[in-house]
Amino acid sequence: MAKPKKRYVCTECGSLSHRWQGQCPDCSQWNSLVEEAPDTKFTAKHDLSSGGRAIVFEALDEPTKPLTRQSTGIAEFDRALGGGLVPGGAILMGGEPGIGKSTLLLQAAAKIAQKGGSVVYVSGEEATGQVRMRAARLGLSQAPLKLAAATSVRDILTTLGQDEPPELLVVDSIQTMHSDMIEGAPGTVSQVRASAFELIRFAKERGTALVLVGHVTKDGNIAGPRVLEHMVDTVMSFEGERSHQYRILRCLKNRFGAVDEIGVFAMEGHGLDEVGNPSSLFLSGRDEPIAGAAVFPALEGTRPVLVEIQALIVRLQSGATPRRAVVGWDSGRLAMLLAVLESRCGLSFSTAEVYLNVAGGYRLTDPAADVAVAAALVSALADKPLPADAVWFGELALSGEVRPVAHGSVRQKEAAKLGFKTAFGPGDGGQNVAGLRYTDVRAAASLVDRIMASA
Ligand code: TYD
Ligand code: MG
Repeated sequence: MAKPKKRYVCTECGSLSHRWQGQCPDCSQWNSLVEEAPDTKFTAKHDLSSGGRAIVFEALDEPTKPLTRQSTGIAEFDRALGGGLVPGGAILMGGEPGIGKSTLLLQAAAKIAQKGGSVVYVSGEEATGQVRMRAARLGLSQAPLKLAAATSVRDILTTLGQDEPPELLVVDSIQTMHSDMIEGAPGTVSQVRASAFELIRFAKERGTALVLVGHVTKDGNIAGPRVLEHMVDTVMSFEGERSHQYRILRCLKNRFGAVDEIGVFAMEGHGLDEVGNPSSLFLSGRDEPIAGAAVFPALEGTRPVLVEIQALIVRLQSGATPRRAVVGWDSGRLAMLLAVLESRCGLSFSTAEVYLNVAGGYRLTDPAADVAVAAALVSALADKPLPADAVWFGELALSGEVRPVAHGSVRQKEAAKLGFKTAFGPGDGGQNVAGLRYTDVRAAASLVDRIMASA
């Protein structure tokens, strides 16, 4: 019998190689290849005598049961999920250690249990005593959920298989789980994958909603196997700066809904509070207008969020290469904006260090932020504060033209609601919104002139 070939899998990108190499040929990560258990043999014979069964084809328009969703009891969590938990759906909840994944899931699990749902919470990281202490701190000790500290997938599924399957099963975390179907220590690629596979299969067969907690590495990948992302229905990421109180729950993949909604929370002494109106939260204490700060009406899914963009320009005396540092925005996009401002508007940043920060630990992905970033940069460069009651939005093209963006009126309404009086936006975005004066800017150059001319 031929010796089974060794295979190596990259813990970063999941790609397979047939020999070990120091660097992954796909993602170029160093020292990320680990040996994987060999594939089991398969027969190439494909007729009914080989044990295969015929599959049944169906038409696209056959009636299906409508998707029933179960609320987590936490509106912001439901919103990020696109409406709630789906029976049989598997969710991967990623996030840095200490960000609050266990807290959020314990809160949701307890809420569901309090409403009469059957919930199992399996912790592989903490002893039951620790989880109980957290529950006490959250005021949830009375919630009738089933708690266990276990790491053996076989034990967990054997136990669950004896009763009615739970409506929700939380496994915290998948990296601590161990499947005896396969060799290797918990946390290795093949173990994580095999454990997840068994748990997901149980969830699908029994109609249990499953949440797998996954640690992420410092570069934001769900640790080790990216393959997990393909196995689950929904990938969520719990984000925030640990030094900030605020946490954002983002959906990165969702087979059951949109991925553009976020949930916003504040970590308090008694657990995570929902933040229904995130706008006021991301505007840092705005009393004295300061140079380099611009307010941007961002859109997250269907929800407007006002955030403050802060720029700082430091002139360099020496000929050293100036630094550009960005927190909360794309650094490539900043380089592009600086180039547009230099070549289309005659501003010079070449001897200046540029720092850009999005307040509140928020991460912007909305392309409409260009105009607000440009306004902050120009204001910082000129050392002139922008009007305190203005918001800025629009996309900037390389030509220097300000392009229209989606949902201008939603952005303006949110700004008006929070007491802003003026909006600077693209040429055609001027729907009338009560209480807000709209000023259109068609080109970056006119925006710059306006800021430079203002007091
Ligand atoms: P945790 O849920 O354990 O994070 P994760 O599971 O993502 O690793 O949260 C840990 C942090 O949250 C910890 O630093 C303390 C803080 N925390 C609070 O501020 N208030 C609370 O009520 C709780 C339970 C935790
Ligand atoms: Mg935890």
